Parts: sequence; C-alpha cells; structure tokens
Amino acid sequence: MAETIHVSVAWPYANGDLHVGHLAGNFLPADIFARYHRLKGSRVLMVSGSDSHGTPVILAAEKEGSSPRETFEKYHHRFLETQKALGISYDLYTHTNTENHHRIAQDFFLRLLENEAIYRETQQLLYDEKAGRFLPDRFVEGTCYHCGYEEARGDQCDNCGKLIDAVMLVSPRSKFTGTAPVIRDTEHYFLDLAQFKDALRTYLENKDYWRPNVINFARNMVEDLRGRPITRDIEWGISVPLEGWERKCLYVWFEAVMGYFTASVEWANNMGQPDAWKDWWYNPEAKIYNFLGKDNIPFHTVIWQSELMGVSGIYNEESDTPITLPYDVPANEYMNVQGSQFSKSRNWAVWLPDILTRYDPDAIRYYVTAMMPETRDTDFTWEDFVARNNNELVAWWGNLVNRVLKFAHKNWDGLIPLPGDLGDNDRALLDKTAGGFDTVGTSLSGVKLRRALDEAMALAREVNVYLDAAPWFGVIKEDKQAAARTVYTALQAINHLKILLAPFLPFTSQRLHEMLGFGGQIFGDQMIAIYEEESSSHEALIYDGTKAIGRWVPETLPPGQRLGKPVPLFKKLDVDKVIEDEIARLGA
Ligand code: MF3
Ligand code: ZN
Repeated sequence: MAETIHVSVAWPYANGDLHVGHLAGNFLPADIFARYHRLKGSRVLMVSGSDSHGTPVILAAEKEGSSPRETFEKYHHRFLETQKALGISYDLYTHTNTENHHRIAQDFFLRLLENEAIYRETQQLLYDEKAGRFLPDRFVEGTCYHCGYEEARGDQCDNCGKLIDAVMLVSPRSKFTGTAPVIRDTEHYFLDLAQFKDALRTYLENKDYWRPNVINFARNMVEDLRGRPITRDIEWGISVPLEGWERKCLYVWFEAVMGYFTASVEWANNMGQPDAWKDWWYNPEAKIYNFLGKDNIPFHTVIWQSELMGVSGIYNEESDTPITLPYDVPANEYMNVQGSQFSKSRNWAVWLPDILTRYDPDAIRYYVTAMMPETRDTDFTWEDFVARNNNELVAWWGNLVNRVLKFAHKNWDGLIPLPGDLGDNDRALLDKTAGGFDTVGTSLSGVKLRRALDEAMALAREVNVYLDAAPWFGVIKEDKQAAARTVYTALQAINHLKILLAPFLPFTSQRLHEMLGFGGQIFGDQMIAIYEEESSSHEALIYDGTKAIGRWVPETLPPGQRLGKPVPLFKKLDVDKVIEDEIARLGA
C-alpha cells in the first residue's frame, strides 16, 4: 500500500551561507529519503524554509550593517539557489516571515493559551545597561552551568547540547558591549512543558527504533521538564497577539518548528486544495520524519511534540483525529572539516555556494552521503573527497557506464543489442541487481542512508566483476552474439543501478536515463518560483513531480532501443591540485 510520508527538514537560520554541515545534517538525508519514497509511489510532502527571525539573524544584520529583513532576504535568496543547485527537492521551501506563517503561529499561541498550556510569569532576565536592552538567547554568552563550557550561548550550550536558562549562566557577558549584565524583571509567557510529561513518556515508549542518542536524549529530557519562556523582548519576529504585548515577539524556536505545519498549509493553499495538508497532519496513517542536526534534538523530540499536543484539533474542529506527532527523528551528528569543528569566525568550513563553482553536485552528494554522520561525528577531508570520487564514483560506477555504453554504441549502430537467450551467469547478475530494490530499499526506509549507498555501490562492483569474467571485449569479432548477451546484461544491470542510485545521484541518473535512450524525467522539475500568498508573494523553491516517471522496480531494458550519445558522467580529480587549492581556502 502506498505510504503517506512527511519529510520535515530543519529550517536554517538566514544569517550566513550554507556549509557542508547543513547538507550532511539535514538537507541531503531528507532529500535522499524523499526521492526514494517518491520512486516507491509514496505520497510525499517535503517542506522547509529559511528561519528568518531571532537573535541569530539580528546579530548577523548588526555585523553586516543592515536590517534583519535585508539580511534574511539576502540569505534566503542564496539558500534557494544553493539548494536548487544541489537538487534538494522540496515540495515547498519557504521562510518564516510569510503572512501565512505569522498568522498560524499566532493562532497556535492563542490556542495554547486557551488550553492553558502556556502561562504568564514575571521573569528575571539579563539586561545590558550600557546598551539599554534585554539580552535574550544569543545576545549573551557565558559559562555553561551543566558542563562548564566557557562559550555557552544564552539559549543552548554548543558543547553539551543542553538548553540554557540565561540567568543561570556563570560569568555572563553581553554580545553588544562585552559588559556583565544586570538582572531585571520582565513579564513573559511560558510553555508549561511539565503538563505534557506523562503524554511525552507514553509517546516515547514505543520509539525504540529511533537512533540511540536521539531517544536517550529525549527520555532524559522528559524526566526534568520545567516551563520554557516562549516570548522575548525583541523587535524582529512575530509579535505576541495580545493587547499590550505587540512590542514583544514569539521566541524563534517556539514558532520556527511550527513551520513544518505552516509550510504544509501554504503548500496546500498554493495547490488550490486548501485542505490537502490534513492528509499528513490529521491522518493516523501518515508518518512524519524530522531531519536535523544533533543540536536541534531537544526542540524536535520534546518541545515541538508538546506544542502539537497542546494545540491538537486546531483547524480541524469537525473531527476528533489527533494531530500527527513525528514518527521518527533521525538526527545526524556533526560533519567536521579536516579534523576540526565548523567555525564561522575562523572560516573553518566548506561553503556550499563556493564548492558548487568547482565540483558537480552529484560528486558532492556522493561524498557527503558516504561520510554521513549518522551514528557519530565524521570528518570531511579533501584527500578523502578526491579518493572516493576517483576510486569509487569514477572507478566503480562512472567508468563502468562509460565503457559499456561506448562499446554498445560503436558495435551495434547505437542500438541496445538483442541478447538472445541469457545464460546462468547473466541471470545471476540480474537477480543480484534486481534484488537491490529490496536490500537498498530496506536500508533507505530505515533511514540508513550510508548503508544503502554502500549496498548500491557493491552492486556496481558486481557488474564490474561480471564483465571481467564474461566474453565481450575480446570476442566481439568471433562471437558477436555472445558479446551481445553480455553487453545487454550489463546494460540491464546498469539500468537497475540507475534507479537504485537515483535518490543519491539524481543529476547523473537522469543523464544516464537519456543515454540509455529513455525519454522523460525520473523525478520531475524543481524550480525557484514566485509563490503566491493571499495578498503578497515571495520567492520559494518548489518541486513538481507530475512529470516524474521513475519507479522503484527493476524495469526491463527494451532491446533495439536507440542509445543516446555516451558522455562520461563524472570527472576524475587531480588530488594534488585539489588539496593545494582547498586547504589554502580553509581558515583564510
Ligand atoms: N534555525 C535552526 C538552526 O539553524 C533550526 C530550526 S528548525 C525549526 O539551528 F524547525 F525550528 F525550524
Ligand atoms: Zn554545556
């Protein structure tokens, strides 16, 4: 039966360019998973957008000498281009500064208030007397009271991942003036997390299939729940929808996670089917998967669930179906670079817009998937990037495709040869590659993407082994029929692998599809478009799968079909040159 799958991808802060950590942490695993499910015939909705509010964007704007709006719009536009270039196939990639998102986030707030899931309290907050402003979240840094890390931020500690209550920071200092802040009283709203404790425990009970670090973090957090402030003394964001509160805003994390829901509604409206989002959000059969990096775990395993439980029934009064909670939260660990953690200030990063000017998207996707930090931190190194590109992608897959296609093209007038009766060894190979639809598919379904890629590449090696043992190259003059059988079998196996590898390597799989003589698109179109709202419009990345013809099944290659012109799929890289070039850029 067709599955109903929501792919919820963490929303990057629009405060700086995207780097390889974003790709490894959220976008690429989400995209591979969504593409696989589309091929399988699942009903997929994949959404995300730019996180445009909060202290991270305000601080970046101050640094750039522009307004938060200008900064967020600039990076939003760049995020669209970068992700399109990498083939990240969102049904909708929007941002949190839309009318739609603002309205729904405010409705969520009011509903939570009505349900008594939020309450008002006077709070002691850090205040910078020199700058004359409160210091929520990242406006303040200090020593973490959980682990002693000295550069913890006011919202979360980057070292231990735990959430921080800024007034409890040891030796706090203002990001604006560097001075030690004082404590002042101010009124705020709090999310009453403690009231969801039992419900969260129950929710987490049958989640043993989650990744161990994710489920452990969540179960620990549930045992120690206190109210979390969800409004801020801040001027850029979604204002609190209550009289007298217009000058305070909703906390960025409180509203950004709602984006999974609000973007689904925006997508449905723009499709002209305003209720279509309910197929995911009010459907007990639907499965929601959240893709994110490990620092985002608390928000996606406890806080977002509490918000959803607290608003359950919203926009669906006529039915008593509960709102859908995330089915899995396959958070990734970090991808470091050349042995050290990402650092914007030290420019220790692999910036995606930059490397896209020098490397092909599928080569980047291949390496990042092969090194995906699914169970522990991994290390992006340029040596390894070149080695895997040359020794795996080119040697096992690209060269295989190229030599078989060229040989077929030359010896059978550009047509796929007629195989005659296949022998046992031919059938054995095709059984193996056809079997990949089960094995690779099972790994993909379980979000074990590294393993899935390994399994698919192992099958590509099997085709090489088969060709090494079979008569074709040398025998073409003596026994053309034997050569035809072998070449046809290899082409058929390559055609299987085209689909098995398509979620990982969508661009080259499409080119291969055409070289094998097929028309149409495996996946459909992806475009940056002007996306309409009720009374305004904005730039978004959208995906149109109506023309997609790819299916997750081993299809038979039609003998006699005219082949396209064979052109190499991948480029071999010069190891010395790449390393010299790229290491010079790092830290510069
Ligand atoms: N902007 C956050 C970050 O970059 C992630 C937000 S995910 C969301 O860490 F779901 F809250 F949007
Ligand atoms: Zn800490």
